[in-house]
Amino acid sequence: MKHVWSRLIVGILALGLVLATSTGSFAGHHGTHKEKKVGILLVAFGSSEASAQVSFENIDRKVKAAWPDVPVYWAYTSRIIRHKLARQGKILDSPAVALARMADEQFTHVAVQSLHTIAGAEYHDLRRVVGAFKSIGDFESIILGYPLLATQTDMEKTVDALFDMIPADRKKEDAVVFMGHGTHHPSNAFYAALMFQAQRRDPHLFIGGVEGYPEIDEIQSWLAEKKIKAAWLLPFMSVAGDHAKNDMAGDEEDSWRSILSGAGITCHVIMKGTAEYDGFVDIWLSHLKGVLSHFD
Ligand code: CO
Repeated sequence: MKHVWSRLIVGILALGLVLATSTGSFAGHHGTHKEKKVGILLVAFGSSEASAQVSFENIDRKVKAAWPDVPVYWAYTSRIIRHKLARQGKILDSPAVALARMADEQFTHVAVQSLHTIAGAEYHDLRRVVGAFKSIGDFESIILGYPLLATQTDMEKTVDALFDMIPADRKKEDAVVFMGHGTHHPSNAFYAALMFQAQRRDPHLFIGGVEGYPEIDEIQSWLAEKKIKAAWLLPFMSVAGDHAKNDMAGDEEDSWRSILSGAGITCHVIMKGTAEYDGFVDIWLSHLKGVLSHFD
């Protein structure tokens, strides 16, 4: 009889141990419980040009001022730029490396903010990386914020910000030509959609792409139709980097300045990226704010 009782007690203890172990595992791997830790990862295409740094510094400053208690990390999506910078001793992470680092540093909630202009190829690649980290499950929550142009409100705010970029010296009859990046991606349509809305306010405002419709030949023909004599050239990219320096303002005969000058149009060049202006940075920040509000 005593034998049976002792067996029963051992059985109950063993069952208790199994239950304790299984409930213990719900509290986290190896019984560790993560404290809530929110972080921001800002993701840009990147640039190796010194002239571009002012844009990144402006965003960094504004994000840190808006969320002083949240650590801010950076990543560049362009591998070419990261490797070029690495050769100069400046190490920048890819989004995947930055997120792996943040996982290791025990972040539980990560707001990934795209600093791209449109939701093109770079943005969708980033979306896949964020999705992968979501399924790994290291973070309790990881959310990606939209690029500059996503909603109709963004479009309207961007039109306002574009007009704020135009120097006071510009005369009404002068054209204002913004150089967007342009892409083979379906999101290239954003540029023409934005131009349509901007032209409702000022028919002499144009938005073209280095690598997508409308390209400079098209824009040149529109300027000719309107008998434009002078044009202001500005980048519609977050930074005044390589494209602004060479493709827009360069001395080469295929730069926008050379092409328009060759057609008898006087060109004025402004070398400032959109991220140097608060009107644009505030749009990216509004998307980041939306993401962070999910973590409250
Ligand atoms: Co490019």
